[in-house]
Amino acid sequence: MKQRVVSGMRPTGKLHLGHLVGALSNWASLQERYDCFYFIADWHALTSDYADPSGTVASAYDMAADWIAAGLDPERSTLFVQSLVPEHAELYLLLSMTVPIPWLERVPTYKEQMEQLAEKDLSTLGFLGYPLLQTADIIIYSAHYVPVGEDQVPHLELSREIVRRFHNFYGELFIEPQPLLTTFPRLPGLDNRKMSKSYGNTIDLSDDAETVRKKVMQMYTDPKRIRADVPGTVEGHPVFIYHDAFNPDAGEVEDLKTRYRAGKVGDVEVKNKLAKALNDHLEPMRARRAEILNRPSALREILYDGSSKARSIAQQTMERVRSAVKLKYA
Ligand code: TRP
Repeated sequence: MKQRVVSGMRPTGKLHLGHLVGALSNWASLQERYDCFYFIADWHALTSDYADPSGTVASAYDMAADWIAAGLDPERSTLFVQSLVPEHAELYLLLSMTVPIPWLERVPTYKEQMEQLAEKDLSTLGFLGYPLLQTADIIIYSAHYVPVGEDQVPHLELSREIVRRFHNFYGELFIEPQPLLTTFPRLPGLDNRKMSKSYGNTIDLSDDAETVRKKVMQMYTDPKRIRADVPGTVEGHPVFIYHDAFNPDAGEVEDLKTRYRAGKVGDVEVKNKLAKALNDHLEPMRARRAEILNRPSALREILYDGSSKARSIAQQTMERVRSAVKLKYA
């Protein structure tokens, strides 16, 4: 029996290279060793976007197409939609009976996000409950591991504390989930800030080849290099970080770095070669994505089938949980 992995992503807009490098490539390779459950966290999207949820479903389908294009295989993994498995909400409610509010207020990202997204009123119960809902998402499937980035480790620590507290009242029911940390290169955005939709500095998985080329040409470069014959710094340079991440021709990358350090190559050549490498990498994904979006009913069926499979497991878990909290009306 393979151990189970669960992870989710909020459908809040187009996916970009950061999602690919930071999550999807890893999710795809985990399919070899684990029984993977990947879901569209549409309720989590609502925790911050409740004032305008009009884009959620379109984003969800678009995201699912990107997932499959990136190698998530609906034959091997269970791909599903959180809100199509309402048992997540029931478990969240039952967990909430035992979770002290200060535990949630203490989550490092909580106040940080409220400040960062000051234009939204996030003083809601839904937003405070974000990590609790996430806990329900994971433990309802008895997941052993959750592939997450460093920033999500405190969330998982909290999940384990919530499980232990629930167990104290009602007995052993769940597996305490562990993070599955993978180190991946942190991809900066085009302007060398963090890659983020809100900064408008992303390369999206759905960008066509010409758009990718134009964006690469706009990328931030070493500001000391006012001319091509000025020696440049390669370390921490976004164009070279991308070369390292996406250019399979290591010899070419080494040659470009050597010449860059010596002031013997122009930015345009370095960027042209990057645009080519990126487009070679993205082209097969674009083709698969187009193919999937051409058959919307097939995509819908994948998510419905996945959700009904997930739901039958979630229902079994909830049978046990209802007994444990003495709500058995047999
Ligand atoms: N918090 C995740 C994000 O930022 C989404 C998510 C919701 C999730 N529930 C989860 C991730 C459970 C892992 C496990 O997109």
